[in-house]
Amino acid sequence: MIQHDVSLRGLNTFGLPSVAESYLPLRDLAQLESPHFRTTPALVLGGGSNLLLRENVPGLTVHVLLGGVQELGAAAGAGSGTGTDVHLRVGGGVDWNQLVRYTLDQGLAGMENLVLIPGTVGASPVQNIGAYGAEVADLITAVHVWEYGHGARTLRPDECDFGYRDSRFKKEPGRFLITAVDFRLQRNASSVNTSYGAIIAELERLGVDQATPADVALAVTNIRRSKLPDWFFLGNSGSFFKNPVVPKTTHERIQQDYPQAPSYPIDTDHVKLPAGWLIDRAGLRGARDGQVGTYAKQALVMVNHGGATGEDILAFSSRVQTTVLEKFGVNLEREVRLIGG
Ligand code: EPU
Repeated sequence: MIQHDVSLRGLNTFGLPSVAESYLPLRDLAQLESPHFRTTPALVLGGGSNLLLRENVPGLTVHVLLGGVQELGAAAGAGSGTGTDVHLRVGGGVDWNQLVRYTLDQGLAGMENLVLIPGTVGASPVQNIGAYGAEVADLITAVHVWEYGHGARTLRPDECDFGYRDSRFKKEPGRFLITAVDFRLQRNASSVNTSYGAIIAELERLGVDQATPADVALAVTNIRRSKLPDWFFLGNSGSFFKNPVVPKTTHERIQQDYPQAPSYPIDTDHVKLPAGWLIDRAGLRGARDGQVGTYAKQALVMVNHGGATGEDILAFSSRVQTTVLEKFGVNLEREVRLIGG
């Protein structure tokens, strides 16, 4: 069952070279009863889409391959007054985008704005994946976990401490392995979420008037393809940094030089700044050091032009952080998970 010296290069979307000392595919919940799961493994791997592998991984790497999509039953829509709630339980190893496609095929609404996000279902609550005006936390009704040293547990959403690209699973690394996630979706939903401006513009371009979830998914697919690289052709891990939350006064200071500087409201005193904009205006969109660079169409994405190591990416990302700090006085925090060092 356990394999040794397994290359992880094909299992991380940056395409970084790294070797797992021991590698265990987790396909069946019964395996969790084995002694391997009494303590935290060195690495729990899903789709490898948010990982920066700095070096080889000593000890045990567990690759979560738990499958299955199960409908738990339908009930009258709570609150919205439209449509019918449908509850799905999905294995942690299921590919996120395949799940989104499956739900659209079933006529279910809820996941359409999150189409084409790389990674697995089990990883989705960890960084509370979000895009185009939606967050996975809004759909989650339960997270099923294995707690090392204890056993199986189910966490309610209010026990998951969800935030912007954040959750309890990030704050307490090494405590839980996510085995399955329950989602609430809607059949016959009467409205879709087009709050993100670019979706409306793309729907207009497509000539869509009354948008269905499938229309929104198509619009998001087109927008993503126009500015995010496909990791299959160009190694990357999506947004490399989080969008920083700063005091409003910081944004006002930046506006003195850049009156059009974008921001998103957070509360009365704080705004979120798009890190991609900051990196771009710092002159680093499309910049390159050897085999590492920022993507020419979206500066927030670091790309491996081929043959880069985790160390190369880390060094380049430090240069980006320093440049943005010097120019704007804003600290960029990594969004990707650094493994090793
Ligand atoms: N911008 C630039 N230059 C750039 C990149 C962005 O000027 O090189 C500007 C854009 O013109 C826009 C603003 O920055 O005014 C925001 O850009 P965008 O709409 O592309 O979104 P983002 O804030 O950079 C976030 C998420 C993405 C998600 C998009 C769409 C984070 C860290 N990133 O990016 O998520 O797809 O919004 O909702 O929150 C991911 O997490 O991996 C990811 C791709």
